[in-house]
Amino acid sequence: MKVGSKRVMLYALGMAIAYFTGNSLLHGQAARPGTQQKPLMAEDVFKNVQLLKGISVKEFMDTMGFFSAATGMNCVDCHSAEGDSLAEYAVDMPLKQTARKMILMVNMLNRGTFGGQRKVTCYTCHRATEHPEVIPSLLDQYSIAPDDPDKVEIPAGRAAGQISADQILDKYIQAIGGAPQIAKLTSFVAKGTYEGFDSFSEKVPIEVFANAPNQLTTIVHTQHGDNVSTYDGSHGWVAAADKLMRVLPLSGGDLEGAKIDGYLAFPSGIKQQFKWRTGFPAVAIDDRSVQVIQEVGAGDPGAKLYFDNQSGLLVRQVRYSDTAVGVIPTQIDYSDYRDVAGVKMPFHWVMTWTDGKSTIELSEVQPNVHIDAAKFATPAAPKAKAATP
Ligand code: HEC
Ligand code: HEC
Repeated sequence: MKVGSKRVMLYALGMAIAYFTGNSLLHGQAARPGTQQKPLMAEDVFKNVQLLKGISVKEFMDTMGFFSAATGMNCVDCHSAEGDSLAEYAVDMPLKQTARKMILMVNMLNRGTFGGQRKVTCYTCHRATEHPEVIPSLLDQYSIAPDDPDKVEIPAGRAAGQISADQILDKYIQAIGGAPQIAKLTSFVAKGTYEGFDSFSEKVPIEVFANAPNQLTTIVHTQHGDNVSTYDGSHGWVAAADKLMRVLPLSGGDLEGAKIDGYLAFPSGIKQQFKWRTGFPAVAIDDRSVQVIQEVGAGDPGAKLYFDNQSGLLVRQVRYSDTAVGVIPTQIDYSDYRDVAGVKMPFHWVMTWTDGKSTIELSEVQPNVHIDAAKFATPAAPKAKAATP
């Protein structure tokens, strides 16, 4: 049963998504501009939802991503061997039924022992394996595991009086060109390439449109149609030819993440518009020491930003989305900083999350160009093309 290959899992997910494209029932669900945007609920779309009701389709699929990440199992391990049609996902396979029992067990543990707080999740026991360990490992006990910088926490009772979040951000603003120079950058349009499981790991064109202080739209031209994500300054959407619901309004951690990305395009606002804390112990990414700040007051845990101690540049963002059974992380790594109208911008981003990994490489950025306001409005449902893997 243990396939062990993440590639297989991503392939299966890609296949599932490709299938959903062809499902006419799901088309035409796009939220029209000006209408109340109630997200499509899991039970409105799926045939056999017994426990994970009352959550959006996006959160439902994120919950499946949580299951896979926590147990190290592929989608098709719990579903059927083919797993390439929506109908097959509705069939109750033995491991899917075990997973349902596990959801109930976890709820019981948290209610009965932890006063209803979510202290136990699938990951607590499974640690990315199908069969949780029962015998402690002497190897684990006597070896020093490398620190995962994503897991860094502020130690309780840490003495104050060290470098503040404001100082870290000031150094960053200075490193990319200084506030007066950033203020002169009012918009940009970028072109480049995107590579991910939804582009069948091939490089496809991407366009980025950004308008100060915080509007941001990216359009990935995949083989099966456009994938659009937009933040208009207060609302966000993802629209894709290959997603279950053609236009999904963002909420919770996803919306907060879109807001951070919008402000990171013109970073002066990142200091004023968000509340940050620091006090984390020293950690390193790729052997380079980094300073970490974390957003306070919007979601728990708040997004973290990692700055290279030497250059002051932003090298990583880690943010979190809630699912029905626990929180999942998304990591974005930034590199290849280049000068655009006197402001340093990362030309290389790698995004890693429970369902996949994608790489964006910019080739050209045009500063201070007029961008039509319509580029930041609710995206229209993109037209699906026949996929050509
Ligand atoms: C550890 C087992 C497990 C894994 C791994 C898993 N699922 Fe599920 N899946 C479930 C369970 C349990 C349900 C039913 C939930 C309920 O009844 O509330 C479900 C339901 C579904 C449904 C709804 C089907 C319907 O019409 O009722 C879809 C679609 C789905 N899963 C897709 C996926 C995808 C895609 C992946 C891989 C990213 C995945 N699952 C990974 C356990 C799993
Ligand atoms: C308190 C610890 C614990 C938690 C929490 C937990 N599990 Fe398990 N799980 C187990 C144990 C123990 C087994 C049995 C493993 C074995 O047979 O070797 C198991 C078995 C399973 C299996 C069957 C594996 C197989 O091949 O037989 C699935 C699927 C599974 N868990 C999914 C989940 C999911 C999904 C969650 C979160 C909703 C979860 N588990 C939470 C302890 C846990």
